[in-house]
Amino acid sequence: MHFHVLTLFPEMIDSGCDHSILKRAIAKDMIQVNAIDIREFSQDKHKKVDDYTYGGGAGMLMQAQPVFDAWKSIAGDDETKKPRTIYVTPQGQTFTQKLAKEFAKEEDLVILCGHYEGIDERVLDEIVTDRVSIGDYVLTGGELPALVMIDAISRLVPGVLGSEESAQAESFENDLLEYPQYSRPEVWHDKAVPEVLLSGDHKKIEAWRREEAKKRTEKWRPDLYKLYIERELTAKRLSKHKKDNAYMIDALLTGRAKLVFAWGEAAIAVSEGGTMVLLCCDNAAEGTELLAHLENDPEVILHNCEELNPILDEKYGFRVGDECFQSVYTQHTALPIAHKDIRPYPIDQIDYAVANYGGEDHRSYLLERMQSGEFFAAYEDGEIAGFCGVHGGGSLGMLYVDPKYRRSSIGSSLASYLVNWSLERGGVPYAHIRLSNIASLKMQEKMGLYVAKKHVFWTYK
Ligand code: ADE
Repeated sequence: MHFHVLTLFPEMIDSGCDHSILKRAIAKDMIQVNAIDIREFSQDKHKKVDDYTYGGGAGMLMQAQPVFDAWKSIAGDDETKKPRTIYVTPQGQTFTQKLAKEFAKEEDLVILCGHYEGIDERVLDEIVTDRVSIGDYVLTGGELPALVMIDAISRLVPGVLGSEESAQAESFENDLLEYPQYSRPEVWHDKAVPEVLLSGDHKKIEAWRREEAKKRTEKWRPDLYKLYIERELTAKRLSKHKKDNAYMIDALLTGRAKLVFAWGEAAIAVSEGGTMVLLCCDNAAEGTELLAHLENDPEVILHNCEELNPILDEKYGFRVGDECFQSVYTQHTALPIAHKDIRPYPIDQIDYAVANYGGEDHRSYLLERMQSGEFFAAYEDGEIAGFCGVHGGGSLGMLYVDPKYRRSSIGSSLASYLVNWSLERGGVPYAHIRLSNIASLKMQEKMGLYVAKKHVFWTYK
């Protein structure tokens, strides 16, 4: 991950990155932070970069030319390959954990810091892809917001934090704040560590942590708690037909999707930064009602109502790309796993996955899945023997076993690993299987997954 920060105060960026985890990540070359001094690109003999505002008004504005040339020094001349360029400004969309996750997937990020009264709008129009604010207050410049973003994004880059786990169960996952934590001594100022944490009972500890997370979210962030409760209640209602609605229930329970509108057993939600819409309902009338709540401009609509397909086609231009069976694991108990050595897939071995999962066309998708920590490898004698993953939408699959190991337990272990992984996250494990893939369906049934009555339809614009 390479951050390029365009600034009038490069030392602020350098010194902000010269401590603790960021310093270590830079030393290990896991991230690079390059502060570029905009003033160096001024064509003025006094290196001036600002001027008065046309139309009057207080203060000075940063001029277009030095900003543009500084940006060009990174972006190069290829118009088709503009890097993602974030202008930090109080007028932008608010920086959130979700946005940090999205930015963490980029290889290069340009962050443009303003000063004085802002920057000439014409250069912003040409180079900026995102305007981001770190909160509703005004700072003297963009350097502190840039550092805040670099910090939040870097800790999501694989390897930057000591253990992969620490970036997972934390505040804002699933709209809940993080549970309270305790370290030694067992009693301090007459306050004892909650007994359950000393019990060694993993299940009880998880349940306790979840309850505590809910309590403090309700107390300190009622806005988030409301969203959480709405999703939980909808998921509960939809669970009357758990198998048919599994993809929606899972997305709501794990926080993968944001609920847009729901009543009874009909619901519409969006996920993946608005590009994917999930919808479930029983008939075309309900579906039409839900589609009236369609926000932004999704690329994919996933639903389970066959009657809706002609409406989606004629009114919205979405056609069925895949019709699938939905198989669902309806129990809450983890599956046994024979093959123990399964771990997050190492990104430096991506070529093996590309060669065995759809070729070059799938490279960026596979990379994104690996970076999100939802793609896994099984090892045998220190070598990758197979892999599996969770699709962006949340369904389990992407299963591959090296021909050398086809008759071993590796395939079923990988599949069971995914089921357990999903359960641990409070989800409903499910897979979507094309109607023609009977072999896969058989395997799922053997593992104890049930096939839903309704098919699911992946529709695309
Ligand atoms: N520049 C000045 N204030 C800011 C803020 N709140 N967020 C991002 N950039 C800023």
